[in-house]
Amino acid sequence: MLSLQTSRLDIRPLVLSDAEDIFEMRRNPEIAKWGMAGKADTSISQTIDWMLSSLLSAESPKNATTTDTTTATTTTPEKPAPKVLFAIRELQPGTVIPEPKVIGTMGIKRSAAPSCPTGSNRVRWELGYGFHTGVWGKGYATEAAKGVMGQFKEIKRTLEGNGEGNDAVGVAEGLWAATAENNLASQAVLRKCGFEFVGKFVDELGRKNLDFQVLV
Ligand SMILES: CC(C)(COP(=O)(O)OP(=O)(O)OC[C@H]1O[C@@H](n2cnc3c(N)ncnc32)[C@H](O)[C@@H]1OP(=O)(O)O)[C@@H](O)C(=O)NCCC(=O)NCCS
Repeated sequence: MLSLQTSRLDIRPLVLSDAEDIFEMRRNPEIAKWGMAGKADTSISQTIDWMLSSLLSAESPKNATTTDTTTATTTTPEKPAPKVLFAIRELQPGTVIPEPKVIGTMGIKRSAAPSCPTGSNRVRWELGYGFHTGVWGKGYATEAAKGVMGQFKEIKRTLEGNGEGNDAVGVAEGLWAATAENNLASQAVLRKCGFEFVGKFVDELGRKNLDFQVLV
């Protein structure tokens, strides 16, 4: 479920045992500077926390409640945004043990749009990704994005089936991606995948971003 392969890549939801490989990427400032936080993880526990927040979003049951027995109060936790985060590996013929390292991550999430005057200011589905510096320039990000975009409808259906999404009301059309104005490699990936520039905005860290959309 939600796993796919392209001609060179194996793409499947990440699991906690991927943590060391993911930390290797997230500790690298060359990769991390383009991310939401804008800075690298300094310990594997930070990476695990980040992974857990993704896994939790993907798996938490609808309307889960917790009861505090000391005060007899029941709380319903805030509904997490629906998302899936994929671990990407180079495809190897046959069964390889140990399995190849994770060389990239790619996520799809439904999130409130950034305050972008020209793009959609509504809730929207967003694509995000990052690859190990050692594999940059091989076309992997483009290949993975095209693969994931090919499954976008099924991914949305699956996440909505978890009770976490609802496309019926107020969700912007298509798939969106935002990238720093000076992240030319990421913009090249988006354009190669058919995304079109729709506007500029400044993110929470004060960075100038470009907003892209593709109809899928
Ligand atoms: C952006 C990133 C995912 C690209 O991964 P990748 O596997 O190297 O991407 P691809 O090989 O599919 O395509 C990269 C394209 O960018 C182009 N490119 C790379 N550096 C560039 C630069 N400085 N200026 C212009 N284009 C550049 C490449 O030439 C290539 O385009 P081409 O195929 O037309 O020649 C990777 O650099 C990365 O992980 N960066 C750090 C994290 C990040 O930026 N994530 C995105 C946040 S929005």
